[in-house]
Amino acid sequence: MDDMNVVSDAVAQGLALMYWRAETDADGIAWLGMDKADAGANVLSADAVEELSRVLEDIAARGPRGLIIYSGKPQGFIAGADVKEFTALKDTDQAMALLARAHSTFDRLESLPFPTLCLIHGYCLGGGLELALACRYRVARDDPSTRLGLPEVKLGIHPGFGGTMRAIRLLGPMAAMDLMLTGRTVDARRAAKMGLVDHAVPERHLRHAARTLIMTVPMPHRAGRWARLANHSMARPWLARLMRRQVAARARRDHYPAPYALIDLWQRYGDDPHGMLAQERRSVAALITGATSQNLVRVFALQDRLKSLGRKERIAVSHVHVVGGGVMGGDIAAWCALQGIRVTVQDQNRDALARLVKRAHDLFRQRLKQPRLVQAAMDRLMPDERGLGVARADVVIEAIFENADAKRTLYKDLEPRLKPTALLATNTSSIPLEELGRNLARPERLVGLHFFNPVAKMQLVEVVSGDNTAAETVQQAAAFARHIDRLPLPVRSTPGFLVNRVLMPYLLEAVVLTEEGVPAAAIDAAAEAFGMPMGPLELADTVGLDICLSVAGILADHYDVAVPELLRRMVEAKQLGRKSGRGFYTYKAGRPQRVRLDKGYAPPPDLDQRMMFRLFNECMACLHEGVVTDADLLDAGVIFGTGFAPFRGGPMHYIRQQGMASQLKVLGELEQRYGHRFTANEGWRDAGPTG
Ligand code: NAI
Repeated sequence: MDDMNVVSDAVAQGLALMYWRAETDADGIAWLGMDKADAGANVLSADAVEELSRVLEDIAARGPRGLIIYSGKPQGFIAGADVKEFTALKDTDQAMALLARAHSTFDRLESLPFPTLCLIHGYCLGGGLELALACRYRVARDDPSTRLGLPEVKLGIHPGFGGTMRAIRLLGPMAAMDLMLTGRTVDARRAAKMGLVDHAVPERHLRHAARTLIMTVPMPHRAGRWARLANHSMARPWLARLMRRQVAARARRDHYPAPYALIDLWQRYGDDPHGMLAQERRSVAALITGATSQNLVRVFALQDRLKSLGRKERIAVSHVHVVGGGVMGGDIAAWCALQGIRVTVQDQNRDALARLVKRAHDLFRQRLKQPRLVQAAMDRLMPDERGLGVARADVVIEAIFENADAKRTLYKDLEPRLKPTALLATNTSSIPLEELGRNLARPERLVGLHFFNPVAKMQLVEVVSGDNTAAETVQQAAAFARHIDRLPLPVRSTPGFLVNRVLMPYLLEAVVLTEEGVPAAAIDAAAEAFGMPMGPLELADTVGLDICLSVAGILADHYDVAVPELLRRMVEAKQLGRKSGRGFYTYKAGRPQRVRLDKGYAPPPDLDQRMMFRLFNECMACLHEGVVTDADLLDAGVIFGTGFAPFRGGPMHYIRQQGMASQLKVLGELEQRYGHRFTANEGWRDAGPTG
């Protein structure tokens, strides 16, 4: 705190501090800053909590007028607990010990005899917010980067540092449970409105607001009477049932136990703060050592790995030019503009440009809300019929028809006008880069950036390298993906790359099952029961059956993949799925009409195996052929590209967990029953021990 009149630095004296630094100002207020050495972000590791505990004792002994906790990191307050420590926990005893230490430290903070306050800027998540909840007051910086939340459910747990009890005490059960069950984050203004922070103020007023609270010591905020009524023992069972029903619409208990455990905890101990604190630890200790949480933590680490593949500093991007403003190009252009980049978009068809501007406006309104921000995003997106933006662009993305000749002709016109440092990227889903780059003067600058539809929802982008693509180009393309907040997955230019290649056999098996007379609802239900977010037939309808047929055709040209007749017939009959109102389902107001299955209907027992093992077998082939470099990247790609059940940790991880030998046995049985499409490919042999 540079403008503070520091009169002492006694706390730090004699203590070798790695995470915290304490000072006392002229008013006798202790300022305790978290600033983990050699790290960009603060996380509450076991060591950081341990040190906090010692520092608090020291501060308590000095008896200051008040205590203000802040972060020394420009990016934010505290990002949460140290997730890496979760995977090292061997059993519930170890987990209990970790949680108990945090509990006693936060309890101590709460019981300090002088006012305490957290000064929040940037992210204040999970354990970070739990720390803030243990203070008497909270003041947050009012700007778009400030986000507060308890997103633990996303890691398969719920708050475990006393946050369940304290959030409910502060906000009342309905608002607090909603925050914890959804894991959503709120900005400073919303946090102030709901009572999560006492004030949301601009940067220049932050310290003054904090100091005033400490000096005037108003009553701490508590949930209002109406909010507290919901905590009554008569109300809780009824409300808990309602919450369970809402959660069940999104996640099954056997797949995602954490939200259910949280509801159980509240139902039993909602009006018993001590019981709730004690049981919170037990509940989290059980969850954190369970398979779902361990796998979700793995997915979190995989996501970090993908992020680390794109180092933003490798490319400066202020202008992107997109050629082809159709389904994909239009949405890519809008997405880049949403992320703050200046975008020109070119299309030979004027109507396509008009359509994309309208779609972009809808996206901006939905995401940015404030008219001023929407207008600024619209100003960044410029229709550019003549392609004048090419010469100024740092990245040029081609997303015209899937036709190699058309793309090559276009590149001939584009290449001489590119800046020497510009990347030339194609969104092709199937054409080998070697073929596209044949006539280029500098084929080493051509790279694939394969986005998925819908661009705004699908986080993954396959970064495709052909034989001629320079390593530096791939790194820059991955860095560009990070500039626009997408996850880059480097893949080799092979038909279908990774995501479509593994997804298609799984979808096609679902079509074969339909041909055999298995009802669509039963097929999709089986995949959903495995944990897929959407059944394969509904997914095929959503992607568009014409697009599925075209991708299947490309794969069939290169691999041993048969395209079911039914798919061809449906496309011929213009039953294209959601967009035509009819596919495997009929759509009303965009929603599939699922026919109820007869009570006595029993689906074939190997229904889910047939679909999942086609996907597994293809994953093995991709790994064997080096489409991606390792099994973790494959898992990351399949999870973020297809939605593969995150709580299972990815297909390769799942196979390893089940045991390679047992999975090969199932595959062998499927082969005997259904033939060579289930023949184990060579990848299984080199994927690891068969034990
Ligand atoms: P689309 O047919 O919706 O859009 C193509 C647009 O390019 C049209 O608006 C057309 O007027 C324009 N265009 C064609 N030639 C042009 C030229 N020489 N100069 C300027 N504009 C030109 O196609 P879509 O679906 O957006 O696909 C585009 C590319 O993205 C293709 O390579 C496709 O394989 C790929 N892709 C498509 C996905 C999808 O789900 N539709 C998913 C991932 C990749």
